[in-house]
Amino acid sequence: MASFAETLISWYDDHKRDLPWRGETDPYKIWVSEIILQQTRVQQGWDYYHRFLDNFPNVKTLAEADEEKVLKVWQGLGYYSRARNMHAAAREIMAEHHGIFPQTYDKIRSLKGIGNYTAAAIASIAFHLPYPAVDGNVIRIVSRIFGICDDVTQPAVLKRITAICETEIDPDQPGVFNQAAMDFGAMQCVPRNPKCNECPFQSSCYAFKNNLTDTLPIKKKKGESKHRFFHFTIYLSDNQTIIEKRTGSDIWKNMYQFPLTETDSEKWPEKPVFATREVLSHQIIHAAYYVKNVKKLPKTAENQSVIDFDEIEKLPMPKIMILFLKHLE
Ligand code: ADE
Repeated sequence: MASFAETLISWYDDHKRDLPWRGETDPYKIWVSEIILQQTRVQQGWDYYHRFLDNFPNVKTLAEADEEKVLKVWQGLGYYSRARNMHAAAREIMAEHHGIFPQTYDKIRSLKGIGNYTAAAIASIAFHLPYPAVDGNVIRIVSRIFGICDDVTQPAVLKRITAICETEIDPDQPGVFNQAAMDFGAMQCVPRNPKCNECPFQSSCYAFKNNLTDTLPIKKKKGESKHRFFHFTIYLSDNQTIIEKRTGSDIWKNMYQFPLTETDSEKWPEKPVFATREVLSHQIIHAAYYVKNVKKLPKTAENQSVIDFDEIEKLPMPKIMILFLKHLE
């Protein structure tokens, strides 16, 4: 009987997606693709991958860029700590690895922003090291085919799944195995309505045989999202306005916004000219915008500055700000 890896790779040979980072051997570019794809769909990641590499073609250019430029290029992708961490890691590679991307799993894993999954993806694809890259796709495939019926959000269960992958990975082509698993999870063994009728694992899949494809993997529900209410005031005076930089440890650190007041509810004495919301992983941001035409701009606070309105778009801003500026146009 064919092994798990043989069946998976044979499926991949027939179905693999033609993606811009496929066949890439430069660990830097593989790193960029994997970080972008962590919380981004392949379709959207594609454009950003090119955009990022056009701006920062190698570790050195990324390390030498200033953070605002990096955030600007990342703008719209969300999860901005990914960009900040990459920037810090690039500087780490320059300072501690003579500018050469580290070539062992442990050294890669120790870089800022690189967890088990990303370290394994880079180590296997760039350096052919036999580490399984266990992401949501792999958890789904393994829990269905091998019948893991426990809560996969438990670290111990994730460990079991990782151990199965370590046994099953093809040591001669670990990078191919990992990417085959990614594509298989994205195209065939999808979360809803997996294509079991044309699946090469049909006869051995635990979930298929036990009618459990809708049940596996089992995930304990996340805590409810917190609702936050952001009220932005746009002061306008002779085409100038006030903008402020977000600081501290909150979301969107070091990005720019119009002066913000956060409240516990949607209520505000005035009617906004525009309102929108953005759903983040643990919170939902309800944003409302109020325009004030004034003779003289109010005094600015420490994190605020006066700026020409048409200069705003050069600054890194969260998505809800871009949406509002688009609305103004
Ligand atoms: N998702 C994350 N990494 C990927 C890769 N290298 N190929 C396809 N999908 C992915």
